Amino acid sequence: MLSDVPPVEPPLLRAARRQPTPFTPVWLMRQAGRYLPEYRALRARHAFLDLCKTPAAAAEVTLQPVERLGVDAAILFADILLIVEPLGVGLEFAKGEGPMIHRPIRDAGDVARLAPVEVESALGFVFETVRLVARALPAGVPLIGFAGAPFTVASYLIEGGPSRDFIATKRLMHEAPEAWDRLMELLVRATAVYLNGQIEAGAQAVQLFDSWVGALSPDDYRARVLPHTRAVIEAVRGGVPVIHFGTGTAGLLPLVREAGGDVIGLDWRIDLDAGWRAVGDDVAVQGNLDPVALLSPPARFEPAVRDIVRRAGGRPGHIFNLGHGILQQTPVEHVKALVDMVHELSARR
Ligand code: CP3
Repeated sequence: MLSDVPPVEPPLLRAARRQPTPFTPVWLMRQAGRYLPEYRALRARHAFLDLCKTPAAAAEVTLQPVERLGVDAAILFADILLIVEPLGVGLEFAKGEGPMIHRPIRDAGDVARLAPVEVESALGFVFETVRLVARALPAGVPLIGFAGAPFTVASYLIEGGPSRDFIATKRLMHEAPEAWDRLMELLVRATAVYLNGQIEAGAQAVQLFDSWVGALSPDDYRARVLPHTRAVIEAVRGGVPVIHFGTGTAGLLPLVREAGGDVIGLDWRIDLDAGWRAVGDDVAVQGNLDPVALLSPPARFEPAVRDIVRRAGGRPGHIFNLGHGILQQTPVEHVKALVDMVHELSARR
């Protein structure tokens, strides 16, 4: 009987659980974005936040790279900062400047005035996007939901935008550790509800982005960040794999692993096999091509791709990705060539 045949789990989910796959699954951070002409066409008509808040449009953007590239997963089109907008801090995506927060959180008083995020009412549009995408995706291509990790989200809240040195963030952490922990706990609670809402709506894996965590010393990470990140990961329900991503983490990898996740992200600053050794072979890894490599023609980046596949050594549990997001200057044909190259190089014959 047909109904007795167990559904085959998508390759990406199998890899996340370190099960053998017919080829190395690949998806690319920022695969839905400005390097795609069809994204730019939609962006010409909607501001970035409007796109995120219009489920039909956000679902369309999520699906664009799946159709164009043949990647093995979709990543929800949204942003890690949507969760802070309900705090009333004045979130804006200014043209060419990245995110800005007009009323940043700078001291214990600012933290004390924050009300908890009402995730269900404030972020319902994200769950609606997830439902639309989950319904539209072909079988075998899972949807990855995501959220920012508490440290990286807090760094935007405190700095008011992107930062080089994270001075205000580290000062709050060092000078007002109780306020810091209270802010992190507020973010942990909101993020846990947010990720579980995405899973209930149909996300089959989730990624936690701790993009800027590499700015921290191992001691600060261990004491002031790891427990909060772990609390988010432990709150994720439904047996859904968690991808724990960071950059600049070569010196933090064993601690990142300790914080949790089924899959640990490796950027390009460490060889894939050395990174895998550092996190342990009982977790899966994701990575680790330098996004800048994709600016050059495929013949130029092929050796780097071969090297990554070789270092993974055919062991189950490798998800191919970039070490960080696709750059907007990247030619679409190069990205398509990368996806095909990974599939061909890793195919079991
Ligand atoms: O394809 C995807 O990856 C899905 C969508 C996605 C976006 N942001 C869309 C986006 C995801 C997963 C994110 C996560 C995100 N947002 C992170 C973590 C990932 C990372 O890159 O480290 C961070 C740090 C942010 C915050 C953020 N949002 C920044 C720093 C910027 C400016 C970046 C830039 O290149 O200008 C954004 C804006 C943003 N988020 C864009 C997109 C497609 C560009 C906005 C536009 O269309 O003008």
